[in-house]
Amino acid sequence: MYLILMPLEKLCATKDIPVNGVKKFNIRNYDIAVFNVEDEFYAIDRKCTHMKGNLAKGKVEGTSVKCPLHGAEFNLKTGELLIHPGTIAGWFKKAKNTTVYKTKVKNNELYVDLPQVVVD
Ligand code: FES
Repeated sequence: MYLILMPLEKLCATKDIPVNGVKKFNIRNYDIAVFNVEDEFYAIDRKCTHMKGNLAKGKVEGTSVKCPLHGAEFNLKTGELLIHPGTIAGWFKKAKNTTVYKTKVKNNELYVDLPQVVVD
């Protein structure tokens, strides 16, 4: 039997990620990037689904982020792949949607829900 828990993990104070800022975290083998877009926090897998480009260094426009390696774009709210990689590298390997994680703000502290699987 598997039990999937979603414990909140404390990340940092909200002021540590200013508006238009990004910060990366590695918690329990989850490598995530957290973006502050107009005081809304979005957490996604830091590595691009195409060839592991660092999305924490990607360009943010509205609520999407563009991978710095080959230009794939992802929706920060849903993880949906919006634009496929634009170079020849995109012909050889396809990108796919990425994973997003819920964030919560409580007492000026930022938390994220990371799945945890418990085997009984
Ligand atoms: S690694 Fe992100 S688009 Fe290629």
